[in-house]
Amino acid sequence: MAMSSEKEVFLKEFGEDYGYRNSSRNIDQIRAMEFKRLEGVVYLDHAGATLHSESQLEAVLKELNSTVYGNPHSQSSCSMSSNDCVQKARQQVLEFFNASPREYSCIFTSGATAALKLVGETFPWCSESSFMYTMENHNSVLGIREYLCFYQQHAMNSIISHIWPYISAFSSCAFSLSKAKTLA
Ligand SMILES: Cc1ncc(COP(=O)(O)O)c(C=O)c1O
Repeated sequence: MAMSSEKEVFLKEFGEDYGYRNSSRNIDQIRAMEFKRLEGVVYLDHAGATLHSESQLEAVLKELNSTVYGNPHSQSSCSMSSNDCVQKARQQVLEFFNASPREYSCIFTSGATAALKLVGETFPWCSESSFMYTMENHNSVLGIREYLCFYQQHAMNSIISHIWPYISAFSSCAFSLSKAKTLA
């Protein structure tokens, strides 16, 4: 298939960095073999919702057709198979990020929003905490601000309830003094 002139222009400028040049298959070959369904489609959301390749699908189908996977939280052999699979996946993720399992845990969530919610709920917020984020951000990242506000509001409430008896004692004392002065 003839290369479009736009692509030729693009490769002239960025060809050195384009498409896994040094791996066994470059991006064009991967796309042609693994993502035939993308013919005529421009898909730009791989970071948010990546697409499965044909070989991944084949491998999953083979695995599911040959192994009985049960509820991963029981003790049966089918459950143990699922549990092993999940543990192996966790280990692979940690290895990919070069993260020691002594220091890090890998938790699978239903998606990015659920993961960020978990971070907001479990982060050990304290009075010195700040949450920094870029101006352009997804709502689910901005939502973490609410956890910090909630914490700070509670911290403020507890400071007020702690010092309130002193404020109230001081004001009634000041009131009595001013009343005494008026009567004198
Ligand atoms: C930072 C961030 N949070 C949340 C989402 C939404 O993802 P999900 O549907 O997995 O919650 C996205 C999707 O692009 C995202 O980039």
